[in-house]
Amino acid sequence: MTTIPLSSPSLLATLPGRYYTDPEIFRQEQRHVFESMWFCAVRSADLDRPGAFRTVQVGRENVIITRTRAGGLRAFLNICRHRGARLCLEESGQVRRNLRCPYHAWTYDLDGRLVAAPNLTKMPDVDRAAYGLVRVALREWLGYAWVCLADTPPSFEETVRGAAVERLGDPAAIEHYGAENLTLGRRVGYDVRANWKLIVENFMECYHCATIHPELTDVLPEFARGYAAQYYVGHGAEFGEGVKGFTVDGSEGFGRLPEVPEGQDRRYYAITVKPTVFVNLVPDHVILHRMFPLAEDRTVVECDWLYAPDVVASGADLSRSVELFHRVNTQDFAACERTQPAMSSRAYRAGGVLVPAEHHIGVFHEWLLERLGE
Ligand code: FES
Ligand SMILES: [Fe+2]
Repeated sequence: MTTIPLSSPSLLATLPGRYYTDPEIFRQEQRHVFESMWFCAVRSADLDRPGAFRTVQVGRENVIITRTRAGGLRAFLNICRHRGARLCLEESGQVRRNLRCPYHAWTYDLDGRLVAAPNLTKMPDVDRAAYGLVRVALREWLGYAWVCLADTPPSFEETVRGAAVERLGDPAAIEHYGAENLTLGRRVGYDVRANWKLIVENFMECYHCATIHPELTDVLPEFARGYAAQYYVGHGAEFGEGVKGFTVDGSEGFGRLPEVPEGQDRRYYAITVKPTVFVNLVPDHVILHRMFPLAEDRTVVECDWLYAPDVVASGADLSRSVELFHRVNTQDFAACERTQPAMSSRAYRAGGVLVPAEHHIGVFHEWLLERLGE
C-alpha cells in the first residue's frame, strides 16, 4: 500500500494515522517486532562487576541483564518462578551474589539457578534446575548487550550487523570506530511523547534539517539540501569547509579514533539498526541511541556519547562535542512530539505523504507491515 504512488508521482503515501495511536497495533508491534527481533538493551560496561544488573522493558516483557561471577553477561525474564512476582524492582543496581525475590524469598544465583527458598530443603523432590529463571538470548556487539525473546532468534549477522553493512557498504567500516573499546562520556535520557516510528522516520530523513537543525547544517552543509546520509549506500556527509570538528560551533573535536581511515576523518555516517537503534559515526566519537518504546505515544530514548578512553580519562571538556547532537535530539524529539497529536486527527486518517527525499521511509513502512503480517 505504501509505495502506491498518489496522483502526484513525486509523493508516496505514509502509514495511516492509526498506526501511531492504536494500542492494538502497538501490541502487535510488541509481539512481532520488539519481542521477535534483537533488541539493544544495555551498554555492557554499565554492568562492570559481578552482580551489577539492569532491567529493561522489551515489548511486553521485563528483562534483567546481569554480570555473572565468571564475568559474562546473562539475561533473564524478570519474573520469579514461584508465583510470578517481579524479581528486581529497580532499573539498575548491584547485588552481592544472588537475586532474591521480594515476595517469598526464592533466591537465584547470577546464572539464574534456584539456589535457596524458605523450606526448600524440606522439599527434596523439587528440581532446582527446572525452576531457574527463564533465560533470554544475549549477544554483544559495539559494546552493547542485545537480547532476543524469540524462541528461535533471527540471525544476528543478517538482522543487526547486516544493517551496518547495508548502509556503509563494507563490513569493516563500522569496526574501524571500535565502539566496544570506547568509554561513555555522556548519557542523556529523553522521555519522548511520540510513537517510536515517528522517531525512526525522523532519523531516516533530512528534509527537516534545514528547518530545525541550524547547528547541524552549519557543520554538515550538504544536509541543508535535504538528502540524509542514509539516502546513499556508503555515503558519509562531509564536514563544511572551515569546520574543525563535530561540535556545536564547529570547533576542534578530539582528533580521530585510532582505526578510522583518513577518508572518513571528516565525515558523518548514520545507521538505523531496526527496530530501535541509531548509530552515528564521526571521526572522534560514536553516538548511539537506544529506544525503549513504552506505549503507542511514549518512547524513552537513551543516547550515549562514546569517546576514546584517554579522552574521557583526561577530563577533557566534552560539552561542545556533546552539545551538537544533544541539540539535534532536542530539536528532533520536539518535532516528533508536535506530530504525535496529529496522528489521531481526522486530517491524518489516511496518512500523509513522502517527498522523494523521504521515499526510503516507504521501505521502512513496508518492512513494518510485513512484520505485522499485513
Ligand atoms: S513469587 Fe517470588 S518467592 Fe514467591
Ligand atoms: Fe533531525
